[in-house]
Amino acid sequence: MKVRYGLVALLAVPWAGAQAADIPEWINPPTYDCRACHAIDKKLVGPPWKAVAERYKGDPAARQTLKAKVREGGKGNWNEVTGGAAMSPHPDLTDEELDKVVGFVLSLAD
Ligand code: HEC
Repeated sequence: MKVRYGLVALLAVPWAGAQAADIPEWINPPTYDCRACHAIDKKLVGPPWKAVAERYKGDPAARQTLKAKVREGGKGNWNEVTGGAAMSPHPDLTDEELDKVVGFVLSLAD
């Protein structure tokens, strides 16, 4: 048993480091397709989520605004980062699912 735990620890530590800035596993298809276009701190198709969090930091309406934006999709707010790409709409996400994922994005501000 001891040996086995030791091995797990050895394998887990570098892996945990590499994952630190990644979108967590619960934000996965089929519920959430976000990682197809987003990462925490680099641009994919969409802006880095950390940049989104920084932009809306201190904005009390951000949660509602961003929930509506993710539900309906669209473009225009991040043209300087994305070159004008659009986010797909997410009509199948429940209000609770939207709340959870937008809450996560907003939690990334320093
Ligand atoms: C098809 C690619 C794509 C997918 C899938 C996607 N996004 Fe986006 N997202 C974008 C793009 C492009 C933008 C920039 C839109 C703009 O310029 O207004 C964006 C912007 C955002 C913003 C900032 C909106 C704003 O107006 O400032 C948030 C928050 C966001 N996405 C969250 C999510 C979440 C949560 C998911 C998963 C449920 C998701 N995105 C899935 C491409 C995507």
